[in-house]
Amino acid sequence: MTGNVERRVFPDAQALSAEGADRFVRLAAEAIAARGRFDVALSGGSTPRTMHRLLAQPPRRDAVDWSRVHLWWGDDRHVPPDDDQSNYRMARETLIEQVPIPPGNVHRMETELPAEECAARYEALLREHLAGTWPVLDLIYLGMGPDGHTASLFPETAALNETRRWVVANWVPKLETWRITLSPPALNAARHVVFLIAGPDKAAALSAVLQGPRDTHRYPAQMIHPPHGTLTYLLDQAAAAGLKP
Ligand code: 6PG
Repeated sequence: MTGNVERRVFPDAQALSAEGADRFVRLAAEAIAARGRFDVALSGGSTPRTMHRLLAQPPRRDAVDWSRVHLWWGDDRHVPPDDDQSNYRMARETLIEQVPIPPGNVHRMETELPAEECAARYEALLREHLAGTWPVLDLIYLGMGPDGHTASLFPETAALNETRRWVVANWVPKLETWRITLSPPALNAARHVVFLIAGPDKAAALSAVLQGPRDTHRYPAQMIHPPHGTLTYLLDQAAAAGLKP
């Protein structure tokens, strides 16, 4: 751990996912003991699926007081919640349906609404639960794309410049689609941020993000560094292959 940044390399995505699930269990216990609740934001894509499945079965499932857990999302696609591209649907199928979390504690983005309205409503919901200048979530999981995006902060997109709002609708030209995402300062307000990054297709971007020159508009994942929290990179060997020791 250098400063508040930790980097762990695992043999494969399964081992990485097990560590990610263990962090959830540990940080949930800490947050619930300290403040009576655990506010955690999930990420989307495919990498978190295995971690969700490990969390949704014994022993980890039974080590979490789900009645005190509040699930959020760091981002989602602008599609209906039952769309196969929905990050909410992925979490519903791989985690939520298998754990005894009260439905009222699952705070999905209402992505069936117009994008700007969805973002504004999600920010209002966050403000109901987490008052303050920024939303201090206990834990935010993030992934990273082969282009160095994280959440839905894609290279050269408008959301990278957001300094005031907690949640924004972000037009992504290369995907020709809207995304809903927490803004960089909202993500950086977290107590703990954990990246899960696996696969050889991430190696080049990861080397650039961690060891290349600072270029946050080209590599938005470089924007993530919580000033009052910890930052952890859980990597598999394939993704870490390009890193200099
Ligand atoms: C999303 C995610 C996104 C994801 C990366 C990595 O909505 O797609 O939030 O930021 O974490 O694209 O995705 P994979 O895990 O599928 O490689």
